[in-house]
Amino acid sequence: MKTIRQINLSPEELPDKWYNILPILPEPLPPPKDPEKGESRLKNLSKILINECLKQEMSQEEWIPIPEELRELYLQAGRPRPLFRAINLEKRLETPAQIYYKAEFFSPTGSHKVNTALAQCYYAKKEGYKRVTTETGAGQWGTALAYGAALLGLKCTIYWVRAVYKWKKERRSLMQLLGAEVYPSPSPKTEVGKKLYKKNPNHPGSLAIAISEGIEDALKNEDTIYCLGSVLNHVLLHQTIIGLETKKQLEKIGVEPDIMAACLGGGSNFGGFTLPFIGDVLKYKKKIRFVACQSEVAPNLSKGKYEYDFADYGEFTPLLKMYTLGHKIRMKPIKADGLRYHAAAPIISLLRHHNLIETVTYPKDERYVFERAKMFIECEGFLPAPESSYAIAFAIDEALKAKEEGTKKVIVINISGHGFLDLAGYREVLKLK
Ligand SMILES: Cc1ncc(COP(=O)(O)O)c(C=O)c1O
Repeated sequence: MKTIRQINLSPEELPDKWYNILPILPEPLPPPKDPEKGESRLKNLSKILINECLKQEMSQEEWIPIPEELRELYLQAGRPRPLFRAINLEKRLETPAQIYYKAEFFSPTGSHKVNTALAQCYYAKKEGYKRVTTETGAGQWGTALAYGAALLGLKCTIYWVRAVYKWKKERRSLMQLLGAEVYPSPSPKTEVGKKLYKKNPNHPGSLAIAISEGIEDALKNEDTIYCLGSVLNHVLLHQTIIGLETKKQLEKIGVEPDIMAACLGGGSNFGGFTLPFIGDVLKYKKKIRFVACQSEVAPNLSKGKYEYDFADYGEFTPLLKMYTLGHKIRMKPIKADGLRYHAAAPIISLLRHHNLIETVTYPKDERYVFERAKMFIECEGFLPAPESSYAIAFAIDEALKAKEEGTKKVIVINISGHGFLDLAGYREVLKLK
């Protein structure tokens, strides 16, 4: 029989509910809390978050309907997305393993971030807001929010970690083409930013600082609401569309995964991809290994402490129980900047705490992962985002292990984005001429 290379779903098969793992976690998720001193951040939460998202943040319903209008927007953004089998790569590696990859790189702005951007802009519009603000690291989330805002007729302001803002001019232009205002962070536009900017106008910035700027801007303007692109429960919930599609696709060909892997910064693509499967592991005792692929520069899940910490530098957010490296930590810039966040999502952290998630970290010079991304593009023809190349490196390593052991594992990874606007990063690390 001919080997199946691509598994598709029809538009009618697009999931109509998101999967909420909160009610079936091994223990209740530790709630957000206030620090011992200072103003109540919990009170601020309703001013920081879209109302509907705040409800979703705490919902105990296992399935949450996706509004019909939003499903239409998902269709417009090209969902459902294909699941490919990496046959050429398997041949090149001479591995008995099967490798499948989910194609989030077919997103209009280049990554999975569109899945929650559309949802958040849809609810923001419904609740009467005129403008959304946010932070961005790699630029993928900022572009996704600019896209969501454009499609829903909202204004959009983006605070972009300066170290990345400087080198990703094309992505900046894309955000501006979508109508967004973009500022390098720390910026003199906010109180948090001003203090750091005055000390050093070339401050490289961090996601934690940019989050504070986005929140401060929104808190000062009534018609404006802040949107976050990772970490929070509702963001992971929206991203479960990835895992739910993948599940249907694997069921169509009668394949069960042995290992699932994705890169992890704050945890939204990893969570969105794996949570529907982790739900099955918890309920039906299925055996699947889940592996989060990280950078040595930001090993939050592998080396962080499981404790309460702020999600942002300026301490606007409540304390969340997470694996964290500390919200004031300085991390070296890397090309996969989307992985450079100090903490992992509370849901993912709790699952890690219960040993349901493994981690792997790759060296900070990124040669190792980018060389494997090069092998992937040579075989499969798709250029991954620098962040996604961490998942690819893991799949290749695992397929080579399967070869040594002579085992027929099924490895399924998420490719969270494409790298067309990150070529300068590949060029520098791989010394392309
Ligand atoms: C393409 C891509 N993949 C992965 C990530 C990491 O974020 P998360 O862990 O929330 O999926 C980012 C973040 O910007 C990204 O742009």
